[in-house]
This record gives sequence, C-alpha cells and structure tokens, in this order.
Amino acid sequence: MCRTVLWLALVIFPFLCARDVAAAADAKRAGPISLPPSQYFDGDDGWWSSFQIQVGTPPQTVRLFPGTSASAGSTIWVVLAEGCWKANPGLPNCPNVRGYTFTRNESTTWSTQQLSSGGLYALETVEEAYLGLTGSAYYGFDTVNMGIAGQGLPTLPGQLVAGFATDNYWLGSLGLSPLPLNLTNLDSHILSLLGTLRNQSYVPGSSWAYTAGAFYRDPQAYGSLTFGGYDATRQDSKQTLSNIAFRAEDARDLVVQLQTITYDTIGSAPLLTKPIHMFIDSLVSQLWLPIEVCQQFERAFNLTWNANSSLYLIDEHVHSALLAQNPTFTFKIGADTVRETIDIVLPYAAFDLNVTWPITNGPSRYFPLQRANTSQYTLGRVFLQGAYVIADYDRQNFTISQALFPPTSVQQKLVAICAPGNEAACRGPGAALSKGAIAGIVVGAIIILCLFIAGFIWIARNRRKRRRQQAAAIAPSYPVDEKASSDARAQHAPLNVELDGQGPTRYEMDQGNEFRPELGPGKEGPDKYGRHELKRAWDSHELAAGEMVAVELEAPLK
Ligand SMILES: *[C@@H]1O[C@H](CO)[C@@H](O)[C@H](O)[C@H]1NC(C)=O
Ligand SMILES: *[C@@H]1O[C@H](CO)[C@@H](O)[C@H](O)[C@H]1NC(C)=O
Ligand SMILES: *[C@@H]1O[C@H](CO)[C@@H](O)[C@H](O)[C@H]1NC(C)=O
Ligand SMILES: *[C@@H]1O[C@H](CO)[C@@H](O)[C@H](O)[C@H]1NC(C)=O
Ligand SMILES: *[C@@H]1O[C@H](CO)[C@@H](O)[C@H](O)[C@H]1NC(C)=O
Ligand SMILES: *[C@@H]1O[C@H](CO)[C@@H](O)[C@H](O)[C@H]1NC(C)=O
Ligand SMILES: *[C@@H]1O[C@H](CO)[C@@H](O)[C@H](O)[C@H]1NC(C)=O
Ligand SMILES: *[C@@H]1O[C@H](CO)[C@@H](O)[C@H](O)[C@H]1NC(C)=O
Repeated sequence: MCRTVLWLALVIFPFLCARDVAAAADAKRAGPISLPPSQYFDGDDGWWSSFQIQVGTPPQTVRLFPGTSASAGSTIWVVLAEGCWKANPGLPNCPNVRGYTFTRNESTTWSTQQLSSGGLYALETVEEAYLGLTGSAYYGFDTVNMGIAGQGLPTLPGQLVAGFATDNYWLGSLGLSPLPLNLTNLDSHILSLLGTLRNQSYVPGSSWAYTAGAFYRDPQAYGSLTFGGYDATRQDSKQTLSNIAFRAEDARDLVVQLQTITYDTIGSAPLLTKPIHMFIDSLVSQLWLPIEVCQQFERAFNLTWNANSSLYLIDEHVHSALLAQNPTFTFKIGADTVRETIDIVLPYAAFDLNVTWPITNGPSRYFPLQRANTSQYTLGRVFLQGAYVIADYDRQNFTISQALFPPTSVQQKLVAICAPGNEAACRGPGAALSKGAIAGIVVGAIIILCLFIAGFIWIARNRRKRRRQQAAAIAPSYPVDEKASSDARAQHAPLNVELDGQGPTRYEMDQGNEFRPELGPGKEGPDKYGRHELKRAWDSHELAAGEMVAVELEAPLK
C-alpha cells in the first residue's frame, strides 16, 4: 500500500511539475511584445517618437514611425538611400534626419525573387491616397530584427519590406496591421509583421496598442508600442471607450465619432458641433477636419491658411498670442456601436509644431490642421499624442483611451490579448508569473526532486534486498551472482517479474525527457530564435527558472 502511494507520487509529481514548467514556457512564448522606443524624436512636421528595427544582413538599423493603417500598415516601409542622394541632395546629415536609410545592395539577404518588375510597385496606400500621400517603392524580402541587437526581440526572416525615396513620408513606417498584403502578381498573401508574429506564436493574438508619445511634455514622453496586448500603465481607465466595432471596409477600420471639439477659454464657442466620423491613422501627421471647422479654428486663434504650402503657418505674433491664451482642447469621442463618450484632452503645446525642409524651405511654425472633404476626415498622429489605441483584429474591435504618461521609473504592465480559442496561452502560469511564484516553483521542484531521489534510492535498496531473498527462495535458473544476475535480467527482461517494478522508474526518465521539447523552442530551429527567447528582458527570470528546474530534474537520470 505504502509503496503504491509512493510510486504514484513519484510518477505524478514530476509529471505535474513538468506540466507547470511546460505551461510557463508556452505562455512565455506567446506573451505580448513591447517594442522599446528609439529615444529619438524625428520628423519634418513636428517631433515624433520613433522606433528602431534592423533590416538585412548585416543588419541596417532604421528608425520608423508605427503605421496603424490597415492596408498601408501591412508592410514595413523604409527610406532607401535614394531618398537622400536622389530626393534631397545636399541636405546636411540627411540619412540621420530621415531615420537612417536602407541600402538594398548592401544586404546579402535582400531578395526580389518572387516579384515582377524588380519589385517596383505603388505603396499600398488607400486612405492615405485620399490625402495625396502616395508613392512607389522597391519591394523585396529580407530579414527583420525587431528592435536592435541585445534587446532580445524576435528575428523574422523573409519579411516584405518596401523601400521608397518619396518625401511624402519623411521616415519609414513600421506597419502594425495583421492583414496580409495582396500583391497583384502573387497568388499567396504575404504575412505582415504582426501576421508573422502571430503565425509563429510569438504573440497570443492579432492585436496592437499604440500611443505616439509627447515631445512637448517635460520630461519628454516616448511613444509606446505593444504587439499581442497592451501596456495598462499608458491607459487612463476612467477615459476609456472600448468595444468599438471596426468599420466594415478593411482599409478604414478605426473609425470613431468625433462629437465636439471645445477649448477651455471662458465663453468660447465649440469648434465642432456636428458629429462626424473620423479615421484614426498614424501614417498621417495632422488633423483633417471639415472646412467649416477649420474656419472656426481660424476665427478663434487668428490662423491664416497659406495656400502655397497648404498649411496653417503661424508667425511669431500669432504664436505668442496662442501661448498667452494657452488653450486646452477637448475632443469628445463616441462611436456608432457604443453609447458612452470619452474626452481626449490635448494642450496647445501638442499643436505647437514646426515644419521644415522639404515641406517648407526654412523652418516655420504651423498649426497641424488640414481642410478636408468628406472622404478625408482623419485624426492623425498629432491626436495620438494624447490618445492610446488598442486594436484587436481577432475580435474586430478597438479601444481608445486618454493616454497616460507615467514617469519612466514606473514599470510597464503588459496585458495579453488572446485570440479566441487561444486563451490558454494567456492563462498559463507563465503569463503573469511573479518572481515569488518562480521562486516557489524552483523551491517546490527542488523539494520534489529530493523526495524523488530519496524514494528512488529507498526503492532500489528494497528491491535489491528482496530480489536476493527471492532469488534464493525460487532457486532460479539465473546465476545468483549479483553482477551476472543483472546481465541476465537484461537478456530475459520479459521473463523477469522484478523488471515490471522498475517500469515506472524508466517512465520517470521519459518524463524528464519531456522537458526537452519545452526548452526546445530555444534550441531547435535557427539558433537566433532561442537566443532571443532567452533574452527577452521581462521574462528571462522565468526561463532561467525553467532551465534550472529542468537541469535539476534531469541530473539524476544521467
Ligand atoms: C488581402 O486579401 C484578403 C482576402 O482577399 C483580405 O482579407 C485582406 O484584407 C487583403 N489585405 C489587404 C491589406 O487589404
Ligand atoms: C550599391 O549600388 C551603388 C550604386 O547603385 C554602388 O555605388 C555601390 O558600390 C553598390 N554597393 C555594393 C556593396 O554593391
Ligand atoms: C502560418 O503560415 C503557414 C504558411 O502560410 C500556414 O500554413 C500555417 O497554417 C500558419 N500557421 C498559423 C498558426 O497560422
Ligand atoms: C472587444 O470585444 C470584447 C467582447 O465584447 C471585449 O471584451 C473587448 O474588451 C473588446 N476589445 C477591445 C480592444 O475593445
Ligand atoms: C492676427 O494675426 C496677424 C498677424 O498674422 C496680426 O496682424 C493681427 O493683428 C492678428 N489679429 C488679431 C485679432 O489678433
Ligand atoms: C506664394 O508663392 C509666391 C511665389 O513663390 C509668392 O509670390 C507669394 O507671395 C506666396 N504667397 C503666400 C501666401 O505665401
Ligand atoms: C520651432 O522653431 C522655433 C524657432 O523657429 C524654436 O524656437 C522652437 O523651439 C521650435 N519648436 C519645436 C517644437 O521644435
Ligand atoms: C476629396 O479630395 C480628394 C483629393 O483631392 C479626392 O480624391 C476625393 O475624390 C475627394 N472626395 C470627395 C468626396 O470630394
């Protein structure tokens, strides 16, 4: 009886333990991925927080602005070297000013094999094209490192990259869309960056979360970008509108109802009173509002439309008046599918921007407002300085919140968004393992291990004792000599009753082996994946713990 219980314990405990560690490893593999900001502010129409990735072999680092657009965001866009020497010859420090350029013939892994006409196609702009923001690009496939070396983020071979030279987009774009790109001459859809992360189970669902950051704040606030979840510390839970359904059209999915725009000067009239549908698109810098609304802004703040540059350029006089008035703007946001509304509040400082070459010859102050017709209403990046958007492409809905700017000392609080049917990846103990829990698992595993070794020794001793007794009693055909007897057992295994007893022990070895596949994702496949998995900053503890447990458990079996 006692032995049966012990055997059961010996079989079941390591198994449970293995399952825990396995689940932790699984969940770790499918956690949200936060891409750290480059800590640079770039742009030709304001200062915007950029993000770094590396393209090609050897890696070429480029700084990009995240692109939330569903269609244009299904590809990574980079500025080609031609974007400097051809498009802006003589511009001092041009490659750096454009977030660094990409040189195709310096990457050994750049490939245009499946593409016709050398990969030259139009940029996949749909909504942006209505705003005149089009361009063409050389497409090709190349290796993409998320982040830069040492950040431990995934390396994805064979990503579609579009290199352009046009000045319509000053920096490249890190497309966030999970939708595949459909190139006309290719049968297969080409997975986007997020599509690939999802396909290879790096993230638990097809979602992203983004806020653009705020250069004007003191200290400056960088943007925040998460794949497969969101960072709860950047979201004001009291000013959150969730469960907004995507619009049916693929290209114009993130549509909100802008109900009013007001500002806080006493007695002031609202700038917008009639609700309009606005598309949120970080590929666009400015606010594209109906001309009547623009005229309200003109009257309220003494703005003058400059037809030559198609901008509301601002002289020092108007600028000082605006600074003195220092209005705070409130955008009341609703949606067709939800009842509530929220307020996104932006100070004038968020609109106090400069344009420079190539938009204007010299630098000039401007107000980021554009006159739009009915197919152009857009809330651009300037709005995303104060708003946090979480888009869930699995459920076809999104959330918009007032963005928060926690001090950099506050740790991120990443929350996974799991695709329907993939909830297990989020619920796994690894999804939110604290250091305490990890320590617990390690200690528990060590205790179990000790019990296991002790039990093993005890049983082995008992067996040997009884085997000797039995061998003597049954008068076997096997030699009684201990060494020879084990040889004989090996030869006549099925006949030997005693071996059955050892079965479970060998089963233990198999359990031990089960650790390998779990650790495997690190070791199987291309080496890089493993290293990146191991190095992921926020969960390296987990893996370290997992490894330790595994090594400890395997030790006695060798
Ligand atoms: C590509 O085509 C598929 C199916 O036809 C569609 O679901 C997807 O939205 C398209 N991708 C883009 C970026 O429009
Ligand atoms: C890449 O192409 C440019 C001109 O197109 C050429 O000057 C340069 O030498 C080439 N670099 C390499 C590594 O082939
Ligand atoms: C990943 O992509 C491959 C090739 O397109 C496809 O066969 C596979 O089903 C995808 N896997 C997942 C989990 O989506
Ligand atoms: C999408 O809808 C689900 C179910 O209604 C809801 O739980 C979730 O919060 C929504 N997601 C977003 C990003 O708004
Ligand atoms: C508006 O700005 C112009 C300069 O751009 C200035 O001459 C004019 O006095 C301003 N009007 C008011 C009402 O402040
Ligand atoms: C527009 O440009 C022309 C020529 O470049 C110049 O003469 C004119 O004053 C400009 N108008 C404005 C409003 O800047
Ligand atoms: C805009 O340019 C002016 C000088 O023309 C400069 O004083 C100001 O700091 C600039 N603003 C920003 C946000 O860079
Ligand atoms: C709005 O303007 C754009 C660009 O000029 C044009 O392509 C589009 O057809 C216009 N839409 C409407 C509804 O007038």
